[in-house]
Amino acid sequence: MLSAAARAEIEAHLKKYPTKRSAIIPALYIAQRAHGYLTPEAIRDVAQVLELEPTEVRSVAGFYSLFYKEPVGKHVIHFCNDLPCALRGADEFLKKLCARLGVEPHGTTGDGMFTVEPAMCLAACDRAPLMQVDLDYFENLTEEKLDEILDGFRTGTIQTDAASVIKSELA
Ligand code: FES
Repeated sequence: MLSAAARAEIEAHLKKYPTKRSAIIPALYIAQRAHGYLTPEAIRDVAQVLELEPTEVRSVAGFYSLFYKEPVGKHVIHFCNDLPCALRGADEFLKKLCARLGVEPHGTTGDGMFTVEPAMCLAACDRAPLMQVDLDYFENLTEEKLDEILDGFRTGTIQTDAASVIKSELA
């Protein structure tokens, strides 16, 4: 369920858009920020604020891979294993990543820190293997680099605060 603050934030953003329908994506970002994913109730509430059918809002949420319909970890790792990256060893690297975290693809670590999602082309094929964590890219990965990155997230020395990026996008 959307909080009063989230509803107010969406309402405030409506002024920037020619129609309420144009604000679906920022409204969904605001809704997702509350729980880390979009609950059916959140989608229904967004539709209500925007005066749209829930099906229309749900279809937009379903189209974009950065909108989550199920609970995910604090950080979502989109690891590209599409064909060009697979030719540069991405499939093997994905197995190593999953083994490091003790999860299967699409799984979330027991501590709720990471979710691993295999991804289609992330438009950086020449820098494979690569992964997008939240909204940041980590490219030309090696096993050593991977360990440093995962440790960095765990210790807080690396931060990709997707929520704050989205906030600045919405400003
Ligand atoms: Fe992996 Fe393009 S196929 S970034």
